[in-house]
Amino acid sequence: MGSAIHVQQREPIAEIDPNLYGHFAEHLGRCIYGGLWVGEDDRVPTEDGVRMDTIDLLADLDMPVLRWPGGCFADDYHWEDGIGPREERPTRRNAFWTQGRADIPEEPNEFGTEEFMRVCDLLDAEPYLAANLGSGSPGEAADWLEYCNYDGDTELANRRAENGSDDPHDVKFWGVGNENWGCGGRMSPEQYAEEFRRFATYLRSVDGLLSEEDVELVSVGHIHDDWNRKFLDALDECASFTEGPYDLMEHMSVHRYYEAGSDTDFDDEEYFRLLARSRKVGGDVDNAVDALSVYAPESDISIVVDEWGVWHPEATNTNGLEQENTVRDAISAAGVFDDLHERADVVAMANIAQTVNVLQCLVQTDEDDAWPTPTYHVFDLYEGHAGGTALDTVVDTDAHEVEDEPYDVPLVSASASEHDEEIYVTLSNRALESEDVTLTLDDDGATVRDSAVLFADTDVEAYSRKDNAAAFAPEEIDVEATGDGTFEVTVPASSVVALTLDA
Ligand code: AHR
Repeated sequence: MGSAIHVQQREPIAEIDPNLYGHFAEHLGRCIYGGLWVGEDDRVPTEDGVRMDTIDLLADLDMPVLRWPGGCFADDYHWEDGIGPREERPTRRNAFWTQGRADIPEEPNEFGTEEFMRVCDLLDAEPYLAANLGSGSPGEAADWLEYCNYDGDTELANRRAENGSDDPHDVKFWGVGNENWGCGGRMSPEQYAEEFRRFATYLRSVDGLLSEEDVELVSVGHIHDDWNRKFLDALDECASFTEGPYDLMEHMSVHRYYEAGSDTDFDDEEYFRLLARSRKVGGDVDNAVDALSVYAPESDISIVVDEWGVWHPEATNTNGLEQENTVRDAISAAGVFDDLHERADVVAMANIAQTVNVLQCLVQTDEDDAWPTPTYHVFDLYEGHAGGTALDTVVDTDAHEVEDEPYDVPLVSASASEHDEEIYVTLSNRALESEDVTLTLDDDGATVRDSAVLFADTDVEAYSRKDNAAAFAPEEIDVEATGDGTFEVTVPASSVVALTLDA
């Protein structure tokens, strides 16, 4: 019977923030050391120690924003350890990701603020720093902001110049801690509210002195609705002078990881279970928005999903949260993006965890080479939506129910956006057989300029290795225009399609 997609051209949702396709890089396993930074190692091309084969792949993705240095690592990171001459920087324990294991090295602090900014420059990505609220102080956080952004004649601004950066880095996004309900200090929501107010006050005091654009602060939220509500409620207890407590943040974050079965060994039921669980990302956003509408109804605080993705049991059991990256994982990412586009009016950023080698990475490396994962290609296709206006997209399709899961899995997922005279449509067929899909626009006269399909010839268990990366690259797919703004396409089993239409 097939599925039908109707792109409602006269039902715009909001502009899709390009930062939805953001990344996250933590001092964890081989994400930074080995993945992005190799220092003096000359087995791969480098620029100032940065690994260029990784950078070249990531640069092709137009990465908009990169969050660093953690994660749990952020709440034990003292930024001054990572600036100045490298040979003088201290070696520290990596409190969260060494975990007493001799096979995971200590933190050498070779990669610090200036090295991170170099990566962002090479990628043309906006930096997003997570400040240490768990074991640091508000003064330390404010000093980091001053070091990065202040354009005057202070000791910290001059230190930045001595370290090679005359011009401020203009870091716009600042996380006020990370998961402070967990690894970042195991705080109650009330305790985090107090700490958040204190840290945000001092960060704001530097913000007022900056010459470039204002910073945007991100508070730590939770996927537990109750935590968010208690945090937001407690924040109000000490409203003071001209700013209300909800003016102390521009964004609230949520993190969502999901899994079902093992990374490469799963049955059909686990395939669908993973897809069902990936739908929680959209649900988390809705819950956070609902809580904000109760406690801060006048604010325009938006949601930042600054860690998301698949976290298989194999990652936990192996060094540095590494796992195989399959087509199943990539298909789940496509659905997450469709869900985020539907919420484009409230979501300002999302950051996949993590960019290189760790969890649902986009690039994997060994000592000599770097190659893309299946999820890399989904990002590549979906970035075509960046900056466009999300259009309400109605999908008429069967749904697969999964026992004990709150969400079912619509067999076809889709989203669309408008860019001047162009409509961009992405859709995934999550069924394990091909599906005939009819796409309808409101207006006649559109023509298909480009079409691409991912994973037409690969199984859902297929995962990227150094020698098979080409198998996941996009191919063209036939689309038939049947008149009156309608198009027919037979979408292969478990595949992702992108269509560019001249409207
Ligand atoms: O991405 C790995 C870890 O997951 C992060 O350090 C932490 O924030 C989350 O729990």
